[in-house]
Amino acid sequence: MYFKRNLESMYFPDRYLVTSALPYANGPLHLGHLAGAYLSADAYVRFQRLMGKDIVYVCGSDEYGAAITIRARKDGVTPQQIVDKYHFLIKDTFEKIGISFDIYHRTTAEIHAETSQEFFRNLYNKGEFEEIESEQYYDEEANMFLADRYISGTCPNCGFEEAYGDQCEQCGSSLSSTELKNPKSTITGSTPVLRSTKHWYLPLDKNEDWLRGWLKNGELDGEPHHDPKEWKNHVLGQCMSWLDGGLQPRSMTRDLDWGVDVPQEIEGAKGKKLYVWMDAPIGYISATKQWAKDHNKDWKDYWQNPKSALIHFIGKDNIVFHCVTFPAILKLHGDFNLPVNVPANQFMNLEGKKLSTSKGWAVWVHEYLDDLPGKEDVLRYTLFKNMPEQRDSEFTWKGWQEANNSELVNNLGNFVNRVLVLTNKYYDGKVPDFDPDIDFSGSEGVDMPMWHDSELLALFDQIDAYSNSIRSYDFRGALRTVMDISSAGNSILQQNEPWKVVKEDPELVKVVMNVCLQYVTALSIILEPFVPFSSKKLRQLLNLEELHGDGELLELLGNLAEGELPLRTGHTIGKAEHLFSRIDDDIVEAQVEKLRKRSELNNEEAKQDEEISFPPFLEEIQFEDFSKLDLRIGEIIEAKKVKKADKLLEIKLKVGPEERTVVSGIAKHFIPEEITGQKVVYLANLAPKKLRGVVSQGMILMAEGPDGNLSFVAPPGNMEAGSKVS
Ligand code: 2FM
Ligand code: ZN
Repeated sequence: MYFKRNLESMYFPDRYLVTSALPYANGPLHLGHLAGAYLSADAYVRFQRLMGKDIVYVCGSDEYGAAITIRARKDGVTPQQIVDKYHFLIKDTFEKIGISFDIYHRTTAEIHAETSQEFFRNLYNKGEFEEIESEQYYDEEANMFLADRYISGTCPNCGFEEAYGDQCEQCGSSLSSTELKNPKSTITGSTPVLRSTKHWYLPLDKNEDWLRGWLKNGELDGEPHHDPKEWKNHVLGQCMSWLDGGLQPRSMTRDLDWGVDVPQEIEGAKGKKLYVWMDAPIGYISATKQWAKDHNKDWKDYWQNPKSALIHFIGKDNIVFHCVTFPAILKLHGDFNLPVNVPANQFMNLEGKKLSTSKGWAVWVHEYLDDLPGKEDVLRYTLFKNMPEQRDSEFTWKGWQEANNSELVNNLGNFVNRVLVLTNKYYDGKVPDFDPDIDFSGSEGVDMPMWHDSELLALFDQIDAYSNSIRSYDFRGALRTVMDISSAGNSILQQNEPWKVVKEDPELVKVVMNVCLQYVTALSIILEPFVPFSSKKLRQLLNLEELHGDGELLELLGNLAEGELPLRTGHTIGKAEHLFSRIDDDIVEAQVEKLRKRSELNNEEAKQDEEISFPPFLEEIQFEDFSKLDLRIGEIIEAKKVKKADKLLEIKLKVGPEERTVVSGIAKHFIPEEITGQKVVYLANLAPKKLRGVVSQGMILMAEGPDGNLSFVAPPGNMEAGSKVS
């Protein structure tokens, strides 16, 4: 115990500030979110709490940025309505799946605007920004500058055709919108034009040297800061390739109407907002400030005391912002800790395909919780088991079922249940005392003196290995160790078969059962970071106090190291109940079917969406403008193709007493013979124009469908040619 306590504070920090990426409040959470930035962080934090650490875990909704305004535009509501709806849905989902944030905040909070403006002001006053007047994309139909996310085009690096103006989701490279080939406005579909505007840029290029030293060698200001060997290869690899490619200044402001205002006292700030990737990570700080206020603590202890370790849990698409941009902002501000690690996860695929919310290929967590009540831990377990820690991984419903049936039910649940049942049966639920010196040589399983001690030392070693795995962000490894401990427990039972020998060798059975009960007690603690609901239930079954996350694991390790029993003899456990239950095939089939149906439905909706994408309405005009148009009913009396012009038809119209000729670019849409006799609406007073040698007098009105099909605006056949249309 003494040894362990010392070791803890000698080698590992006592205080931590842990963050999970702030999810955009523009849609519900899916499994990819959980596997990316939340479950690992939650397990890490729960573990450190069990180790008695002072740790604060913050998160919140990312409520600004184009992701939100795009969603609002799509749904025809305001951005505020969008973030209100999703903030509360997401918060509730996190709670129900057991993510144990100390605070789940939001970036539309006042304290967040103040905090991020203070950062901007600080950097501005120190002259850290470069003011750059540049050409940015402007959508002339929508009359607005286009945020990066409103521009899509071909990625210059990998050729992906749907890259966004700030990032390519295919190759992960960070882009600026002018680098995209064939840019398109995602609002109107038109090709945007460049217009001049002024913004404040963070000169990342000037920060390249210290960033390289910090990332590569773990050094900051000539001092060791962290051990880069503890960072994941894929994270450092991405960082190095950006640094090697040369960093560019990045604009920290935008021309938008939704976001944190650039401090208004700054000249030229009117109408400018902070870039969402400037304000969002500062959200970690404002969340901590709010938490500190609520709990009578000092936020600076976690952000400005170098003894506190800052760790960012994120998905791999956020690496550049957490390893380059945000650290640069923190460093330039001064007095803030930089992260000691950014253990980003890779992506989790779903049933053999890339997860895609727009294609409906996703499992929504709130739906899972509704469909499968009581199965929270099965999901957590399966996601941890397949966590994309080093490379992309996959979730399948079959795998989920198997993990439950063969690991949670058959291994863990079975072990726990047998121990509880037998303890109740043999000892009336009381933890049996035993003779530690009893000589078991000769019995099959227990054949060493001091067997009980050595089993508990083996358990200590396993838990120590588990702890080291978690500390090095190897959650899959730690979970395997938990299951190994459970398997070891099962083997002890299997080898000694208490049910066979209890009559003839009751002393042996007491030792065996006592060891098994210590194993189950240890499991009730080490399971908590991964499957907190089951850990809670197991504590109840053991009739032990609920875990509060105040050093219970450290105490357990101390007990084991000193040969003290974690579960004292004579303690009465509760009645046996199953921790987990089997999942049948029909449940799996129903979920797979649901996924398939949703994706089909989504494809249809996407098609319909495309079909109904009409051009935007034009600017208002006055009645006088309209009344200048002389619209008439005309009747086509002859139509023929114009020579050497495959798009043009020459059409003769009867309009009252007159005959008019119109050249119209509709040859690809109509067969001349078939339109003779057609009544149309005709603009009679449009100035004549010569096309391919033929004078076109006026224009025939056409309607163009979203699919590009043309049709005449056709009055009823009995309407007299020449009649006025108004
Ligand atoms: O990618 C995302 O979902 C962002 N909303 C993550 C923000 S993380 C942080 F910086 F706040
Ligand atoms: Zn790309």
